[in-house]
Amino acid sequence: MEVTLRIFRYNPENGKKPHYEEYKVTAEPTDRVLDLLEYIKGNFDGTLSFRRSCAHGICGSDAMRINGHNRLACKLLVKDLHGGKITIEPILGLRVIKDLIVDMEPFFENYRSVLPYLINDEPAPKKERLQSSEERERFDDTTKCILCACCTTSCPSFWVNEQYVGPAAIVTAHRFIFDSRDRGAAERLKILSGQFGVYRCHTIFNCTEACPREIEVTQAIGEVKKAIATGDLG
Ligand code: SF4
Ligand code: F3S
Ligand code: FES
Repeated sequence: MEVTLRIFRYNPENGKKPHYEEYKVTAEPTDRVLDLLEYIKGNFDGTLSFRRSCAHGICGSDAMRINGHNRLACKLLVKDLHGGKITIEPILGLRVIKDLIVDMEPFFENYRSVLPYLINDEPAPKKERLQSSEERERFDDTTKCILCACCTTSCPSFWVNEQYVGPAAIVTAHRFIFDSRDRGAAERLKILSGQFGVYRCHTIFNCTEACPREIEVTQAIGEVKKAIATGDLG
């Protein structure tokens, strides 16, 4: 099938304003959007810039706005876009460095702010810190995050203020707050009850719609809000 890709282009070094360029390619319905971008880069314009690494939905590096929705280019098939025209833009709310590449540093700064690691200063047991399967299940969903930023950069609260820690950072905090082996929940909940924490979330649900790992992002945020309100980590 014939597909027209309309791609956002911006190169701060060539003096041109941000604009869109169109490319016509022949595609199989089972081609991924990433395949088409690679084809354009290889055959039409080698300067087209985008991030990718694993090409299999694992590394989280190729998040982009495809027909108005945040998606991983390596997971989205042409046939699922229902039409011959595909608009591709950088994810919103972060500074564009070049074409589809944005500055991820504010995103990772927010991630680091919620202490994204296991905290436990108690003496280590001889073998391991045991956990029942029920305790492990409590935070299973949020372990699936690949830090792609699809959620945070689809959130209107983040667009308004990039200091809002955003859904991805809260999902990461959730993963540790509800881990029975962790002892840092109180510290994280204090951070997340602050000015740029969970109360910037107005339950808009864009984050859940955008997550390529199908994590119940809004639900996780709700559980963190509840833990702050009640002190209950159950
Ligand atoms: Fe990506 Fe989902 Fe993690 Fe957000 S929660 S960063 S959308 S994997
Ligand atoms: Fe934003 Fe998701 Fe909350 S879109 S407002 S973080 S439910
Ligand atoms: Fe790694 Fe798409 S290239 S998730």
